[in-house]
Amino acid sequence: MDVEQIHQLVSQYVADGSMLPRTTEQIALNIENYIVAVNGHRVVACAALEEYSPSLAEVSSVAVAPTEHGNGLGTQVVLGIERLARARGIGEIFALSLIDRFFIALDYSPTAISRYPEKLSRYETLTSAGVNLVPKRCFQKNLEDNWSVARRPAKSKRTLRAS
Ligand SMILES: CC(C)(COP(=O)(O)OP(=O)(O)OC[C@H]1O[C@@H](n2cnc3c(N)ncnc32)[C@H](O)[C@@H]1OP(=O)(O)O)[C@@H](O)C(=O)NCCC(=O)NCCS
Repeated sequence: MDVEQIHQLVSQYVADGSMLPRTTEQIALNIENYIVAVNGHRVVACAALEEYSPSLAEVSSVAVAPTEHGNGLGTQVVLGIERLARARGIGEIFALSLIDRFFIALDYSPTAISRYPEKLSRYETLTSAGVNLVPKRCFQKNLEDNWSVARRPAKSKRTLRAS
């Protein structure tokens, strides 16, 4: 089942602060917002679309299984999320990351998180709840006028699909 596998994939990157924790209940409630890459029946990469308004969303929960790093799957799931966002009419997408090069390679631009007060307010809620937040840099991309294509095909033969 995708929900359990997405949960396991994301959870392994929570301890070092790379990713925010997600419960299986949260994932199940939002499963239509996830894109996964699978190897057979195993989920090896995922990303999620978090909508803040009809025109703004965040690409979050980007995770690739350690054995699959460097094969272009992170790129593919983010591009899948961008397609999902465009299909929903969303014009701007942002991301928070410790790995600048990953989003720069996907044509995102560095920006200030203060542009997104909705995100700041979610951070405040999490901090109040005792979640330890590692400061990350913010990147954004306008989807309306920026049709990005993958710069290279995924090196591994994995299937990409909506979850
Ligand atoms: C970050 C992560 C999603 C990248 O996935 P991936 O499938 O290995 O990435 P890709 O193969 O699609 O790489 C795309 C680009 O990002 C770069 N990149 C990927 N991981 C990187 C890293 N740790 N440090 C620097 N650059 C990195 C690649 O070199 C590549 O750039 P290039 O096209 O200029 O060569 C993956 O390493 C991961 O799951 N990390 C742990 C979880 C995490 O940190 N999630 C938050 C990410 S925003």
